[in-house]
Amino acid sequence: MNRLMGLELGTASDASENGHSRATPTSGLDGLTDRVHNTDCIELMRSMPADSVSVVFADPPFNLNKKYTSYKDNIPFSEYMDWTERWISEACRILKPDGSIFVYNIPKLLTHTAAILNGLAEFRHWIAWNSNGQPLGRTLQPAHYGILFYTKNRKSKFYDVRAPHKTCRVCEAYLKDYGGKEHLRHRFGYQVSDVWDDIHRVRHRSKRIDSHPCQLPIHLIERLILMTTDERDIVFDPFCGGGAAAVAAKQLGRAYIGADIDPGYCAAARERMESASAVTVDGAYASVFRGKIVSIRDVDLRNGR
Ligand SMILES: C[S@@+](CC[C@H](N)C(=O)[O-])C[C@H]1O[C@@H](n2cnc3c(N)ncnc32)[C@H](O)[C@@H]1O
Repeated sequence: MNRLMGLELGTASDASENGHSRATPTSGLDGLTDRVHNTDCIELMRSMPADSVSVVFADPPFNLNKKYTSYKDNIPFSEYMDWTERWISEACRILKPDGSIFVYNIPKLLTHTAAILNGLAEFRHWIAWNSNGQPLGRTLQPAHYGILFYTKNRKSKFYDVRAPHKTCRVCEAYLKDYGGKEHLRHRFGYQVSDVWDDIHRVRHRSKRIDSHPCQLPIHLIERLILMTTDERDIVFDPFCGGGAAAVAAKQLGRAYIGADIDPGYCAAARERMESASAVTVDGAYASVFRGKIVSIRDVDLRNGR
């Protein structure tokens, strides 16, 4: 485990101390939660009431001719953006007043997506997820994907999240010296910024993982969920693919609704979701990868300093 000695972790049920209301059940979603729906996401969202989910996490197709089973990932740009505007409008409608929407994509497409979101929601951050791509020649080497973070209103649910301090792999010494002011170093970890370089891409090797061609790491999505929700809040994923967000939500004790137009991906997502279970450290939900905490809410770290 990480350097947690001496820290007391609060229980998951202590978590809403910063003035936000605890999750409340939402009517109109009967039969939809904790399920993966094999359907077009716009159709599904149209059937959902306004102000009903806490988070929309969207990882849409990038229109880069990826080989999906049920979707042609190569449509004219104007058609792609018209469609983007339609699903984003629905996504913002179903968000709760204190809810957040995250859109993951390549930077070029996110500039257009942001133009749509600017008219519907409040800009919070452009999160850069450092993830090296292929050299393209006569251009800068792409080294990040973007995650647009918008909220429905200015006042939204938000929790600071911490990640473990970076240390030398060999000697385990801290890599950042705080200019000699060691007392400023938090006992567990640093406050996460809008540049993330501590989460690695999924390597598409195992049969289970390769049930979908472009899976995201579960703990990438867990960090977003920890930042913006409480236990039992509802996470909606319109393009659930292999189910990374479904697993993330379940591991963090949140409710989940997912959609994908491909029946095979839905089956894989359901299987992964069913075998997932809650992950807590000393009673607090945390994002854990290979036995180490990757992200935890500051509010859950009692006696943190
Ligand atoms: C980039 S992938 C999502 C991958 C997912 N985040 C994961 O980690 O596995 C996009 C997905 O959107 C699905 N899709 C495309 N159009 C859709 C639509 N109109 N409604 C629902 N799903 C759709 C595709 O089948 C594909 O699985």
